[in-house]
Amino acid sequence: MLLKDDHKTVEKLFKEFEKVGEQAYKKKQELVGQMIKELATHAYIEEEIFYPAARESVPATSSHILESVEEHHVVVWMLSELSGMDPKDERFDAKVTVLMENVRHHVKEEEEEWFPQVREAMGRKSLQEIGERMEKAKSEAPQDPLALSGADK
Ligand SMILES: [Fe+2]
Ligand SMILES: [Fe+2]
Repeated sequence: MLLKDDHKTVEKLFKEFEKVGEQAYKKKQELVGQMIKELATHAYIEEEIFYPAARESVPATSSHILESVEEHHVVVWMLSELSGMDPKDERFDAKVTVLMENVRHHVKEEEEEWFPQVREAMGRKSLQEIGERMEKAKSEAPQDPLALSGADK
């Protein structure tokens, strides 16, 4: 599944960040740049395609989805702050740590609490169709995290 693959890609970046030396500023900045790109693209296709489709096919997931949107909101603001931040800033590592905690919690909820219901309700054919739409939409994702709809209150 496309969304779960994205989650894995992001988790790999997190693990790499956790392994890298504290003073590997260039590497840390590079990894954070990749996190911003991956997470902004992922949040975009979820907000524009997957969440609305999931809500339509399983109205009972609405409260989970609304919570997920609020979690995206926090994450995209953190991404935006990180995008202009010097990795030598004393708040840099702490901000990345809290970002990772937030994303891990969010991913766990998606994968364990409501994706399974949606998969079951939608059936293979519509899931495949949505997967194709999301794959195409990736190239349209904004580079600026604050341009995502989840950034709005
Ligand atoms: Fe999400
Ligand atoms: Fe996700």
